[in-house]
Amino acid sequence: MKKLGVLLSGRGSNFEAIARNIADGKLKAEIAVVISNRPEAPGLETARRLGLHAVALPSKGLPREEFDSQVASILDQHNVDLVVLAGYMRLLSGAFVKHFAMRIVNIHPSLLPAFPGLDAQHQAFEYGVKIAGCTAHFVDEHLDSGPIILQAAVAVEEADTAETLSARILKKEHRIYTDAIRLVLSGEWRIEGRRVVSSRMPLR
Ligand code: GAR
Repeated sequence: MKKLGVLLSGRGSNFEAIARNIADGKLKAEIAVVISNRPEAPGLETARRLGLHAVALPSKGLPREEFDSQVASILDQHNVDLVVLAGYMRLLSGAFVKHFAMRIVNIHPSLLPAFPGLDAQHQAFEYGVKIAGCTAHFVDEHLDSGPIILQAAVAVEEADTAETLSARILKKEHRIYTDAIRLVLSGEWRIEGRRVVSSRMPLR
Protein backbone atom coordinates (compact mmCIF):
# COMPACT_ATOMS: atom_id res chain seq x y z
CA MET A 1 0.00 0.00 0.00
CA LYS A 2 1.38 3.42 -0.96
CA LYS A 3 1.99 5.76 1.95
CA LEU A 4 1.00 9.40 2.09
CA GLY A 5 2.53 12.05 4.34
CA VAL A 6 0.17 14.99 4.77
CA LEU A 7 1.44 18.48 5.63
CA LEU A 8 -1.14 21.04 6.74
CA SER A 9 -1.37 24.36 8.56
CA GLY A 10 -5.07 24.88 9.25
CA ARG A 11 -8.60 23.59 8.84
CA GLY A 12 -7.60 20.41 7.01
CA SER A 13 -10.75 19.86 4.94
CA ASN A 14 -8.73 18.60 1.96
CA PHE A 15 -6.92 16.17 4.23
CA GLU A 16 -10.25 15.03 5.67
CA ALA A 17 -11.69 14.47 2.18
CA ILE A 18 -8.67 12.33 1.28
CA ALA A 19 -9.01 10.34 4.53
CA ARG A 20 -12.72 9.81 3.82
CA ASN A 21 -12.03 8.66 0.26
CA ILE A 22 -9.46 6.18 1.56
CA ALA A 23 -11.94 4.88 4.15
CA ASP A 24 -14.59 4.53 1.41
CA GLY A 25 -12.20 2.55 -0.80
CA LYS A 26 -12.07 5.30 -3.44
CA LEU A 27 -8.33 5.79 -3.01
CA LYS A 28 -5.98 2.91 -2.38
CA ALA A 29 -3.37 4.42 -0.09
CA GLU A 30 -2.72 4.90 3.58
CA ILE A 31 -2.01 8.09 5.49
CA ALA A 32 1.23 7.29 7.32
CA VAL A 33 1.61 10.62 9.11
CA VAL A 34 0.07 14.09 9.33
CA ILE A 35 2.41 16.94 10.22
CA SER A 36 1.48 20.53 11.02
CA ASN A 37 3.75 23.50 11.52
CA ARG A 38 0.91 25.02 13.58
CA PRO A 39 0.21 23.03 16.75
CA GLU A 40 -3.27 24.60 16.99
CA ALA A 41 -4.31 23.54 13.45
CA PRO A 42 -7.80 21.98 13.55
CA GLY A 43 -6.60 19.49 10.90
CA LEU A 44 -4.21 18.00 13.45
CA GLU A 45 -7.09 17.39 15.84
CA THR A 46 -9.01 15.66 13.04
CA ALA A 47 -5.99 13.44 12.38
CA ARG A 48 -5.86 12.44 16.05
CA ARG A 49 -9.59 11.73 16.07
CA LEU A 50 -9.11 9.45 13.06
CA GLY A 51 -6.38 7.59 14.92
CA LEU A 52 -3.60 8.73 12.59
CA HIS A 53 -0.04 9.66 13.54
CA ALA A 54 -0.32 13.41 14.11
CA VAL A 55 2.81 15.46 14.66
CA ALA A 56 2.92 19.12 15.71
CA LEU A 57 6.20 20.65 14.71
CA PRO A 58 6.23 24.39 15.40
CA SER A 59 8.20 26.23 12.74
CA LYS A 60 8.51 29.48 14.66
CA GLY A 61 12.06 30.75 14.96
CA LEU A 62 13.66 27.92 13.00
CA PRO A 63 15.54 28.62 9.76
CA ARG A 64 13.62 27.19 6.78
CA GLU A 65 16.26 24.59 5.85
CA GLU A 66 16.46 23.35 9.43
CA PHE A 67 12.71 23.07 9.85
CA ASP A 68 12.26 21.35 6.48
CA SER A 69 14.96 18.81 7.25
CA GLN A 70 13.12 17.90 10.48
CA VAL A 71 9.91 17.45 8.47
CA ALA A 72 11.76 15.36 5.85
CA SER A 73 13.21 13.05 8.47
CA ILE A 74 9.75 12.40 9.98
CA LEU A 75 8.39 11.66 6.49
CA ASP A 76 11.34 9.34 5.83
CA GLN A 77 10.84 7.53 9.16
CA HIS A 78 7.33 6.73 7.95
CA ASN A 79 8.54 5.62 4.49
CA VAL A 80 6.25 8.08 2.77
CA ASP A 81 5.83 7.60 -1.00
CA LEU A 82 4.03 10.87 -1.66
CA VAL A 83 4.02 14.17 0.25
CA VAL A 84 0.55 15.73 0.12
CA LEU A 85 0.33 19.44 0.90
CA ALA A 86 -3.16 20.21 2.17
CA GLY A 87 -3.39 23.88 3.05
CA TYR A 88 0.28 23.93 4.02
CA MET A 89 1.06 27.62 4.16
CA ARG A 90 4.83 27.49 3.90
CA LEU A 91 7.27 27.68 1.03
CA LEU A 92 9.43 24.57 0.81
CA SER A 93 13.22 24.80 0.74
CA GLY A 94 15.12 23.71 -2.36
CA ALA A 95 16.70 20.84 -0.44
CA PHE A 96 13.29 19.50 0.61
CA VAL A 97 11.94 19.70 -2.93
CA LYS A 98 15.04 17.93 -4.27
CA HIS A 99 14.78 15.20 -1.62
CA PHE A 100 11.18 14.44 -2.66
CA ALA A 101 11.51 15.38 -6.33
CA MET A 102 8.19 14.79 -8.17
CA ARG A 103 6.87 13.21 -4.99
CA ILE A 104 5.19 16.34 -3.59
CA VAL A 105 1.71 17.45 -4.65
CA ASN A 106 -0.36 20.50 -3.76
CA ILE A 107 -3.90 21.77 -4.21
CA HIS A 108 -4.39 25.44 -4.99
CA PRO A 109 -7.72 27.31 -5.20
CA SER A 110 -7.26 28.96 -8.60
CA LEU A 111 -6.68 28.00 -12.21
CA LEU A 112 -2.91 28.33 -12.17
CA PRO A 113 -0.87 30.13 -13.38
CA ALA A 114 -3.50 32.76 -12.51
CA PHE A 115 -3.59 33.92 -8.90
CA PRO A 116 -0.76 32.12 -7.13
CA GLY A 117 -0.14 32.87 -3.46
CA LEU A 118 -2.50 33.64 -0.62
CA ASP A 119 -6.28 34.08 -0.84
CA ALA A 120 -6.41 33.00 -4.46
CA GLN A 121 -10.22 32.74 -4.51
CA HIS A 122 -10.54 36.33 -3.26
CA GLN A 123 -7.92 37.51 -5.75
CA ALA A 124 -9.88 35.86 -8.59
CA PHE A 125 -13.23 37.20 -7.37
CA GLU A 126 -11.92 40.75 -6.98
CA TYR A 127 -10.25 40.58 -10.39
CA GLY A 128 -13.65 39.79 -11.86
CA VAL A 129 -12.96 36.46 -13.55
CA LYS A 130 -16.01 34.62 -14.89
CA ILE A 131 -14.41 31.19 -14.56
CA ALA A 132 -12.53 30.35 -11.38
CA GLY A 133 -11.38 26.93 -10.23
CA CYS A 134 -8.66 24.87 -8.63
CA THR A 135 -5.44 23.12 -9.57
CA ALA A 136 -3.70 19.98 -8.33
CA HIS A 137 -0.03 20.17 -9.23
CA PHE A 138 3.43 18.85 -8.51
CA VAL A 139 5.51 21.08 -6.28
CA ASP A 140 8.79 22.59 -7.38
CA GLU A 141 10.94 25.18 -5.64
CA HIS A 142 8.81 28.12 -6.78
CA LEU A 143 5.45 29.26 -5.42
CA ASP A 144 2.44 27.40 -6.90
CA SER A 145 4.39 26.66 -10.05
CA GLY A 146 5.03 22.94 -10.65
CA PRO A 147 3.55 20.81 -13.47
CA ILE A 148 -0.26 20.69 -13.45
CA ILE A 149 -1.86 17.31 -12.78
CA LEU A 150 -5.58 18.21 -12.86
CA GLN A 151 -7.73 21.32 -12.89
CA ALA A 152 -11.43 21.95 -12.40
CA ALA A 153 -13.38 25.04 -13.41
CA VAL A 154 -16.05 26.79 -11.36
CA ALA A 155 -18.30 29.41 -12.99
CA VAL A 156 -18.68 32.67 -11.10
CA GLU A 157 -22.38 33.47 -10.61
CA GLU A 158 -23.95 36.92 -10.50
CA ALA A 159 -24.95 36.49 -6.84
CA ASP A 160 -21.59 35.16 -5.68
CA THR A 161 -19.53 36.64 -2.91
CA ALA A 162 -15.91 35.65 -2.45
CA GLU A 163 -17.13 33.32 0.29
CA THR A 164 -19.81 31.49 -1.73
CA LEU A 165 -17.36 31.13 -4.62
CA SER A 166 -14.66 29.78 -2.27
CA ALA A 167 -17.09 27.20 -0.93
CA ARG A 168 -17.89 25.89 -4.44
CA ILE A 169 -14.19 25.82 -5.34
CA LEU A 170 -13.46 23.88 -2.14
CA LYS A 171 -15.96 21.17 -3.11
CA LYS A 172 -14.10 20.74 -6.41
CA GLU A 173 -10.76 20.72 -4.59
CA HIS A 174 -11.95 17.79 -2.50
CA ARG A 175 -12.83 15.89 -5.70
CA ILE A 176 -9.83 16.60 -7.89
CA TYR A 177 -7.19 16.20 -5.18
CA THR A 178 -8.08 12.55 -4.61
CA ASP A 179 -8.22 11.99 -8.38
CA ALA A 180 -4.80 13.59 -8.80
CA ILE A 181 -3.27 11.55 -5.97
CA ARG A 182 -4.72 8.34 -7.46
CA LEU A 183 -3.23 9.22 -10.83
CA VAL A 184 0.20 10.04 -9.40
CA LEU A 185 0.29 6.87 -7.28
CA SER A 186 -0.62 4.77 -10.33
CA GLY A 187 2.73 5.75 -11.83
CA GLU A 188 1.03 5.82 -15.23
CA TRP A 189 2.10 9.29 -16.23
CA ARG A 190 5.12 11.01 -17.67
CA ILE A 191 6.40 14.55 -17.91
CA GLU A 192 6.84 16.21 -21.30
CA GLY A 193 8.31 19.64 -20.69
CA ARG A 194 5.85 21.02 -18.17
CA ARG A 195 3.03 18.72 -19.26
CA VAL A 196 1.83 15.80 -17.16
CA VAL A 197 0.72 13.26 -19.75
CA SER A 198 -1.32 10.17 -18.93
CA SER A 199 -3.74 7.86 -20.67
CA ARG A 200 -5.51 7.59 -17.31
CA MET A 201 -6.28 11.31 -17.09
CA PRO A 202 -9.84 11.53 -15.75
CA LEU A 203 -12.22 13.55 -17.90
CA ARG A 204 -13.98 16.49 -16.25
C1 GAR B 1 -7.57 25.24 0.39
O1 GAR B 1 -8.48 26.07 -0.28
C2 GAR B 1 -6.30 25.09 -0.42
O2 GAR B 1 -6.53 25.04 -1.80
C3 GAR B 1 -5.55 26.33 -0.05
O3 GAR B 1 -5.77 26.48 1.32
C4 GAR B 1 -7.04 25.93 1.65
C5 GAR B 1 -6.85 24.94 2.77
O4 GAR B 1 -8.09 24.45 3.22
N1 GAR B 1 -4.15 26.22 -0.36
C6 GAR B 1 -3.42 27.22 -0.86
O5 GAR B 1 -3.85 28.34 -1.01
C7 GAR B 1 -1.99 26.85 -1.18
N2 GAR B 1 -1.36 27.88 -1.96
P1 GAR B 1 -8.16 23.11 4.05
O6 GAR B 1 -7.17 23.28 5.21
O7 GAR B 1 -9.58 23.04 4.53
O8 GAR B 1 -7.79 21.97 3.14
